Amino acid sequence: MDEQILGLAPGAFDKLDGDEDEIFYAPARLVCHIDDGAIAALTGFYRTILPAGGVLLDLMSSWVSHLPAEIAYAQVIGHGMNAEELAANPRFSRWFVQNLNRDLRLPLADRSIDAAMICVSIQYLQQPLAVLREAARVLRPGAPLVIGFSNRCFWTKAVAIWRALDDAGHAALVEHYLRHAGFAAIETHTLAEWVEDQSDPMTAVVGRAPSR
Ligand SMILES: C[S@@+](CC[C@H](N)C(=O)[O-])C[C@H]1O[C@@H](n2cnc3c(N)ncnc32)[C@H](O)[C@@H]1O
Repeated sequence: MDEQILGLAPGAFDKLDGDEDEIFYAPARLVCHIDDGAIAALTGFYRTILPAGGVLLDLMSSWVSHLPAEIAYAQVIGHGMNAEELAANPRFSRWFVQNLNRDLRLPLADRSIDAAMICVSIQYLQQPLAVLREAARVLRPGAPLVIGFSNRCFWTKAVAIWRALDDAGHAALVEHYLRHAGFAAIETHTLAEWVEDQSDPMTAVVGRAPSR
């Protein structure tokens, strides 16, 4: 159990809405979940850390990937819960729908991905270690996994430990996940500051896939 390995209390990955995630994500949400400033900050960070010409994996995605418009990648593989959202994403070369709270194995080869992203979604994973270990498996050694988050979420679908923590706690939790999943060189970057009623915060925690 992820809770035990991470030293968290029983129930840490419970959700207020215990229905299957397919029900909540059935309607397409063709909206932005963070404001323009937070998106611009994340895109700027992606510009520096995601390898141009590489194969990217956007896990837990939707119709936008926040990638720099001027940079071409060999492939951008999308994943999420809603086919209509994923089909509308102009950056994807291909995509797949998979509930990562039920089906943990990614349908991707070992060491086949140059960088991966999880944007404003890590709080919905109930078995984060298992999923991040899968990300480590498919990433090439040294490749970055960028986990971006803000202070908004679908409250009823966020796990209990996320609901109990503030922004600094979220960064520490994501670092903890990455460390236990075997990632190296873990760093937290504050990309945009929160100003009440004015601007969304954006934080990115990055880990590098281990060499095996
Ligand atoms: C707030 S949206 C973020 C979408 C996108 N990454 C973005 O930046 O706009 C949360 C996303 O988490 C993903 N998600 C939530 N629960 C999931 C689950 N059980 N399995 C896989 N993906 C899930 C869905 O793809 C959903 O679109």
